Amino acid sequence: MSTSRRDIMTIATSESLHASPPVSVQILDLLMGGWRAGVVSTFAELGVADGLASGGLTPAQLAVRLGLERDTAERFFRAGASVGLLRQGEAGTLELTPLGRALATDGDSMRNFARWTGSTAERATWAHLHTAVRTGRSPFAAMHGSGVWEFMESDPETAAVFNSAMSELSKRIIRSVVEAFDFSRFGSVTDVGGGRGALLAAVLQKHPEMSGVLFDQPDVVSRAMTELSDAGVSARVTVTSGSFFDSVPSGSDLYMISNVFHDWDDGRSRLIFKNIASAMHSGAHIAVVEAVAGLDDTADKAIALMDMDMLVLCEGKQRTVEEFRSLMSEVGIELVGVSRAGLQSVVEGKKV
Ligand SMILES: C[S@@+](CC[C@H](N)C(=O)[O-])C[C@H]1O[C@@H](n2cnc3c(N)ncnc32)[C@H](O)[C@@H]1O
Repeated sequence: MSTSRRDIMTIATSESLHASPPVSVQILDLLMGGWRAGVVSTFAELGVADGLASGGLTPAQLAVRLGLERDTAERFFRAGASVGLLRQGEAGTLELTPLGRALATDGDSMRNFARWTGSTAERATWAHLHTAVRTGRSPFAAMHGSGVWEFMESDPETAAVFNSAMSELSKRIIRSVVEAFDFSRFGSVTDVGGGRGALLAAVLQKHPEMSGVLFDQPDVVSRAMTELSDAGVSARVTVTSGSFFDSVPSGSDLYMISNVFHDWDDGRSRLIFKNIASAMHSGAHIAVVEAVAGLDDTADKAIALMDMDMLVLCEGKQRTVEEFRSLMSEVGIELVGVSRAGLQSVVEGKKV
């Protein structure tokens, strides 16, 4: 059967539809990812979703409500629509899309994480990724006058956005972790670097027979009681403060440490592992909650970028299972399992 001219045109059209764009266009698109991120962060910072929460407004009305210069605001709303946060309704009013709604303050919000990634502390530091890759050192202190954790102490406004951003992420992580890991095997748990106790509270809520210890720095645990009381678990929690570089409270069956090791280089991580191992009795377990690298290609795409974020901010890193196995074995802990919990995993070890 001969191929007609019309068939050839159909084939040519469908091939050109499916062909990848030229590499220059693909590079341009990757680079514009930074601009798209800038629009999302600015949308969150300006509170556009909150401004539209009670119904459609015209661009001019929304500009007035948010106290923005009218012409640039209208241009910005078009940029917001181009990245899928807004759409224009029939009467010319603006409406939030589901993506835009996720940047409102209430509910299942990602607003503060968007604000944090757009903050000077984060964005300006990423501009020096090349320095970090050349030297292996974080450019944060050279740019902002101190390391990231000291900076947070000296800049309460940025710290508030950062802490709220971490809570938004934690909420998502916590749901998956309490489902994925079998905590019912343990009578007591110490959450090392447990922040304000959100993960510990979720574990104790699910397991009413367990008791817990929340261990973090003094200024952090001092703000934990509200969270623990609201969760109805405060009677089963002992709150203790100190530095995990000095020592960790002993006596629990399980030591949980979530998203702490990725903040530290191998030397500091060794010291934290050593102090936890000293606190563990023989047969006690440790559950390291982290986005572990090398487990699957899809997760690795995100984890490779998180790894760069850790590098630029604090010389930390995302680790593989083998890297955790090696750090654990140096202090007499045997790696006994890995449970996946979405992008995060729980790496379990047992003191031998
Ligand atoms: C990225 S946050 C993780 C918080 C919490 N575990 C979570 O998963 O959301 C790191 C935590 O380590 C704590 N931290 C940092 N240095 C510490 C130290 N020297 N001793 C104890 N905790 C520390 C911080 O206060 C913070 O709560």
